[in-house]
Amino acid sequence: MKPRILWTLLIVAGLLMVIQLVRPLKQNPSINPRIELSAVHPVNPEVSGVLQRSCNDCHASGVYRGPDGVRRWCREWGSYTPDRSQKLLREICTEVKEGEMPGAAYKLMHPSAKLSPADVQSVCRWTQTASSSPVTIGGEE
Ligand code: HEC
Repeated sequence: MKPRILWTLLIVAGLLMVIQLVRPLKQNPSINPRIELSAVHPVNPEVSGVLQRSCNDCHASGVYRGPDGVRRWCREWGSYTPDRSQKLLREICTEVKEGEMPGAAYKLMHPSAKLSPADVQSVCRWTQTASSSPVTIGGEE
């Protein structure tokens, strides 16, 4: 690895750690089980594994946050309008297909969060099923 790349990676990792220190997060974000993603769209074990391993730290528990915060869609799915929900499902597939999510710095710190091609396939198959099947419970309009 070229030293410059190594430095960049180190600096990014360092910055992330500083962000963690400067912005302590609520440990127990309030959870309404009725609007959890899994309450709205059935999630099969493979996909639920991927979400847990690779997405939940940010999109559910909010352990990590970007500068503008992270949408905790795993927790608030049921409050979305059908349009928004469809759009998000499409985005989830795109993000994982392009390897954009989880972010590079996160993968560096959590190598097990990397998605295998099989993971990507399960996620995209699931987003397709989810977007064409009716919602299990209504969100809170
Ligand atoms: C290290 C934290 C982190 C992890 C892990 C992570 N994301 Fe994200 N994600 C973000 C941030 C930050 C954004 C941009 C801010 C925002 O809009 O929420 C984002 C945005 C997105 C978006 C765009 C829509 C949106 O919410 O704005 C999608 C879709 C997404 N992530 C999917 C995923 C999926 C799927 C995974 C797991 C495979 C994942 N992310 C893992 C931090 C993360």
